Amino acid sequence: MSKPVIISGIQPTGNLHIGNYLGAVKNWVELQNSGQYEMYIFIADLHSLTGMQSAEERRKQIKTTAAELLAAGIDPKKTTFFVQSEVDGHTELGWIFNTVTHVSELERMTQFKDKSAHQEKNINAGLLTYPILQAADILLYKGQLVPIGQDQIQHLELTNDIGRWFNNRYGEFFGEVKPLLTKIPKVMSLLEPTKKMSKSLGQGHVVELADEPETIETKLKKAVTATEGGAGAPGVQNLLLLLKEFGDAKLHVKFVDDEKNGTIRYGDLKTALADAISKTFADFRKKRAEYLADEKKLQKVLKAGADNAQKVADKTMTEVRKLVGIK
Ligand code: TRP
Repeated sequence: MSKPVIISGIQPTGNLHIGNYLGAVKNWVELQNSGQYEMYIFIADLHSLTGMQSAEERRKQIKTTAAELLAAGIDPKKTTFFVQSEVDGHTELGWIFNTVTHVSELERMTQFKDKSAHQEKNINAGLLTYPILQAADILLYKGQLVPIGQDQIQHLELTNDIGRWFNNRYGEFFGEVKPLLTKIPKVMSLLEPTKKMSKSLGQGHVVELADEPETIETKLKKAVTATEGGAGAPGVQNLLLLLKEFGDAKLHVKFVDDEKNGTIRYGDLKTALADAISKTFADFRKKRAEYLADEKKLQKVLKAGADNAQKVADKTMTEVRKLVGIK
């Protein structure tokens, strides 16, 4: 029996933060280590072209994201780990999918509407067709399960629609893809704890995996706590959630009890949390630096992953070309 194929990707648009980590990367590493799946993880650099990064910034971020994912536990021996643009097939299959997809289906995507609102001056066609490329990423490898967040569900549904539209026109070929939704904690911004933690809010809102202990401490010191409503305040709940994820269980219980009793000292909570996060990512920081210092090794890992992915992609594309009549 072959293992179910899992595929997921991440845009190289900034250093990983603890929201990305708890929301995606940690889960990928667990799925990988379970040994139950055939895993593909890639850096979605072609997707990032729809955004505003400069070429120089993009090049740097691709490298950094690769180093960070490896440092966080993506193991190239267990996972086919690669950069999207290094594999032929994503763009070609994406183009073919463009021709079976109705524009109105793309225009109703909430992420397209959100992103268009955010970059009014750059509503490029790629923003609109983005989910088509995403469908190609998945179906190129006959992906069956896609670990994603709630915000990507609509894109995954569209992936299935696109697969069906293709099949209806050219014959049964692509199978169904399912989301792999895990109970992931929703991490909120440190400074605006009613909003999801995101780099776009600003540096002070996020804790990056690469942050040095002093930086983590400084950022947490400024985190909003109970100013807006005492017990149950979102900022406090967020810090407690993070302590649960990164600290030891006893400590978490203690602070939860203290909060209930009204004896909690936010300063102590912040110190404990800063310490827990710093410790959790000590090994990450070391490995990240090592990968970034050894570009050759990094390139070698990515090349091997791309070669591996290319074989699978070629197989799919040979069949797809036949089906659509361009071979
Ligand atoms: N759109 C995803 C995001 O922004 C990244 C992505 C691109 C992706 N292609 C994918 C995720 C394929 C899963 C599968 O997070």
